[in-house]
Amino acid sequence: VSAATTEKPWRRYTGGEAKGFVDELRLAAMKLHTRQQAQEGEMEAKAPEEQRVEEWEPTLDGYLKFLVDIKVVYDTLEQIIEKPSFPSYGEFRNTGLERSEKLAKDLKWFEEKGYGIPKASSPGVAYAKYLEQLSEKDPQAFICHFYNIYFANTAGGRIIAKKVAEKILDSRELEFYKWDGELSQLLQNVRDKLNKVAENWSREDKNRCLGETEISFKFYREIVRLMLS
Ligand code: HEM
Repeated sequence: VSAATTEKPWRRYTGGEAKGFVDELRLAAMKLHTRQQAQEGEMEAKAPEEQRVEEWEPTLDGYLKFLVDIKVVYDTLEQIIEKPSFPSYGEFRNTGLERSEKLAKDLKWFEEKGYGIPKASSPGVAYAKYLEQLSEKDPQAFICHFYNIYFANTAGGRIIAKKVAEKILDSRELEFYKWDGELSQLLQNVRDKLNKVAENWSREDKNRCLGETEISFKFYREIVRLMLS
């Protein structure tokens, strides 16, 4: 293996070794990005939200729709973790990555500024419903969504946030993109927990979890697309 192949950007997240299941989850996710979205992406961009973020034309109305719908997803995810159907979910309580309260603050701010807050729409509601059902029957598949929803927001989400803020929010930084504590440490703690939980899984369990990545992308992209509506 040459230095060039070992020197992947994501190595900085894992301390230089492919040492656990999270690396597999990350690779599955990176492949599903378009080349325009991320260096490691392998897909061709078709829809507008798959193009380079620089070329996006977000609207404030659309961004509010996005925030409302993504909040439905985080609310649901955080309720599932609070009252876990499976003991393994309990590991992921109070990770510091929780977003529900932060989003509530952002939406309150917009409301106080006089913006109309839209009702949740089908992309967020559909994903939340899917997560509720899945969480009760397939913990491995559910964990894939947990990973993607939290990690997407800290990676691409922050890139998107910056661009959108410059274009339509006068560079205001939302609470949604602020964490209490050092984000890299919070992420590492969650990676360690994911690796630990997956240690007890069979290869079949792991593959089912990895296979769920595509579904997570499909749902999440519908919500991201709201920004451009
Ligand atoms: C990582 C961009 C959508 C899940 C990344 C990275 C970029 C990126 C640039 C690499 C970060 C790095 O290694 O430094 C984007 C853009 C998107 C998008 C522009 C536009 C819509 C999504 C979606 C999902 C997702 C829909 C899944 C639901 C992830 C995950 C990572 C990632 C899990 C790995 C994070 C980590 O290891 O810390 N994304 N992404 N992304 N993205 Fe996306």
